[in-house]
Amino acid sequence: MSLTVQQTTIVQSSFRSVLPMSSSAGELFYKRLFEIDPAIAPLFKRGMKEQSEQFMRVLALAVGGLSSISTLAPMVKQLGVRHAGYGVKPEHYDAFRRALLWMLAAILQDAYTEEVREAWSTAYSMIAGIMKEAAWGAP
Ligand code: HEM
Repeated sequence: MSLTVQQTTIVQSSFRSVLPMSSSAGELFYKRLFEIDPAIAPLFKRGMKEQSEQFMRVLALAVGGLSSISTLAPMVKQLGVRHAGYGVKPEHYDAFRRALLWMLAAILQDAYTEEVREAWSTAYSMIAGIMKEAAWGAP
């Protein structure tokens, strides 16, 4: 699973529109995630505010690093292994994708085109794939 140069640019430039709204983006994201799968909520032990700030920070790092995935991979692998330790299961990654795309649609509005959706979905698959493989081995 890899991104085209154009998709990388699309993800990075659309993320720049999300950044000024980081805190509402984080809140919207977690609200949606727990609606999709209420069983996920108890896995989060930190306060939502802290969690959502941390998530947006790492998302920013990941988005910035998409063009050099080999540099990013070791960090993403460790993140995947830690997540298994938090009780995260492979199927939770799908709920996470849905909440992420929903949040992007809510924030980007008209700028959330099919092309943007596709680019984010591919970027997420790539990162989630690295995390899952590090935690549970190749599918
Ligand atoms: C691209 C995917 C993801 C990213 C970038 C991400 C990011 C993070 C970060 C930065 C942390 C802070 C702790 C650490 O660095 O180890 C964290 C914790 C956590 N994440 Fe994720 N995550 C992702 C996917 C998921 C998924 C799919 C789930 C499951 C629904 C999940 C559930 C959790 C939980 C339960 C914690 C621990 C919270 C706590 O201890 O209170 N994450 N995540």
